[in-house]
Amino acid sequence: MSRDASTVGVGLLFNPVVPAVLDACPADLDHLAVIPEALWVDDGPGSPRRFAEITQTALSIAPLLDRLPVVAHGISLSIGSAMPLDDEHLHQMAAWCDQHAVPWYSEHLGFFAVADAASRVGRRHTGLGLPLACDRETLDLLVPRIRRIRRITGRPFLLENGVNYTPIVDQEMSEPALLNRLATHAGSEVLLDLHNLYVESVNHGLDLDDYVGELDLGLVREIHVAGGMRLAGMYTDSHSGLVPDAVRQLLAAVAPRCANLAAVTFEFHESSVLAVGLAPLAEEIDRLRAVLRAAGVRVTEAIRVAC
Ligand SMILES: [Fe+2]
Repeated sequence: MSRDASTVGVGLLFNPVVPAVLDACPADLDHLAVIPEALWVDDGPGSPRRFAEITQTALSIAPLLDRLPVVAHGISLSIGSAMPLDDEHLHQMAAWCDQHAVPWYSEHLGFFAVADAASRVGRRHTGLGLPLACDRETLDLLVPRIRRIRRITGRPFLLENGVNYTPIVDQEMSEPALLNRLATHAGSEVLLDLHNLYVESVNHGLDLDDYVGELDLGLVREIHVAGGMRLAGMYTDSHSGLVPDAVRQLLAAVAPRCANLAAVTFEFHESSVLAVGLAPLAEEIDRLRAVLRAAGVRVTEAIRVAC
């Protein structure tokens, strides 16, 4: 995340092998994106001590939290579920963001949870992140929720475009149109995941030019890039390995058009180390910096980080 409003920072999404990656190959990092829910165990609504810190993860991330600015990337909100928003979860998120001076909080446009009274935590995972229909009903559902999220967390709220293996056809509006309208009516911004768009183009023929042409790119505060793999005939957003050339090219084309872009974050799954090794994952940061600079984007002078 850039500390200078006119420049763009490059960072990593934390996972358990990030310290080992930085130990093997120190990298120029501007920020650390963190999934706060990976740092605690949730005992469910109404529990006397609902959120318990996972000590081992807290110890491994602490040196990085001390040195780098942090952005929060949530995974547990399920903003589109039929059940009410989980206010206790949002207050816990707000407290964590306050503790680490987090400038914004992002989540995913979609849903993955359904109510289940028999479950200890009151809900059940659908097994796969599912898309929301891009229509008036979804707009009406999400607008008050986003306002509530922004009020409780007290900071900008970014919605990330989904990767959909079960697309909904014949929708009232496109996804970029929905994101634009949510911004207009509820004040949300956008985390644009370019690998998710690439997955959609490979599997479902999404026209990337149409998508970024329709989205108000002034809403984009953060960009995600990642790698993927083929599985059972589909190209998946598995976060495995390095960023494909096509996604780097997309970054070069889109980033200069995002006037309020502050951060580009590389996401990789910890299992990628087995496929590509430690150093290439750290070196991806330098490659992304080079792509942005070559595209005319002013990149932040970063902190050399080793573990
Ligand atoms: Fe992402």
